[in-house]
Amino acid sequence: MHKNNPKISDLLDKKNKQKICCLTAYSYSVAKIIDQYCDLILVGDSLGMTVYGMKDTIDVTLEMMINHGKCVKKASHKSLVVVDLPHGTYEKSGEQALISAREVLSQTKCDAIKIEVNEDILPILKYLCQEQIPVIGHVGLLPQHVRKIGGYKYQGMDQESANKILEISKKIADYGAFALVIEAVPSDLADKITESINIPTIGIGASRNCDGQILVTDDLIGLNEEFKPKFVKNYDNFAQRLHNAVKCYQSDVINKKFPEDQNLTNYKANKVAK
Ligand code: KIV
Repeated sequence: MHKNNPKISDLLDKKNKQKICCLTAYSYSVAKIIDQYCDLILVGDSLGMTVYGMKDTIDVTLEMMINHGKCVKKASHKSLVVVDLPHGTYEKSGEQALISAREVLSQTKCDAIKIEVNEDILPILKYLCQEQIPVIGHVGLLPQHVRKIGGYKYQGMDQESANKILEISKKIADYGAFALVIEAVPSDLADKITESINIPTIGIGASRNCDGQILVTDDLIGLNEEFKPKFVKNYDNFAQRLHNAVKCYQSDVINKKFPEDQNLTNYKANKVAK
């Protein structure tokens, strides 16, 4: 399956050669822009918070992921497009995971799926790989588990849990996943994982030595006013820009300065609005 997809082969080839640039997208307009710069676009279940205003990702549905996956794929030509399987759609059994993965891939035409992996999920990831589903694993902080672990906390902070994450990562690579997202772990652990496995690692709050990096695009552009993890870098402040633009619009509407003449159609001259 990997060999049939040149975008996945390209990603694998980049390990130890060229850094991999990844971002999230949930909409057509955002995907159309970031497709020009990214190797990989993730339709992340973080959309639960960024798009739907949920407090975490737990209640995101397969239907939501499929709808957003379709929009993003439509706008993406260059990048590999990966869709998160949401909470509750893959953890029960390999068969459940396979049905969900096939549904997502066939409906969205996206390239691969991503699942969050702890010890319990390893056999499911193995099964999906055996069934030729292109899979990315996700280790470290698992956002679908935040209610259980009591919030968004760095993982692998002691030797025992670090070793566990390393062992899980090695198995994910051995079982046939083609990349690994490592979220919120100490950088020496992320480095060790990156050196120990032959598939690309994509870090978020992990290490600059990972084979690639990913950020939630809303965080990159500073659109999220409510939540700012330590590992986020805001490259702009779109929240402030939106405040400014909307304030100007509000003032123009109130003061009858919008629409301006050029925004109006002159009925008498028989012009057609464009
Ligand atoms: O859902 C998401 O956006 C993610 C990234 C943070 C890696 O899983």
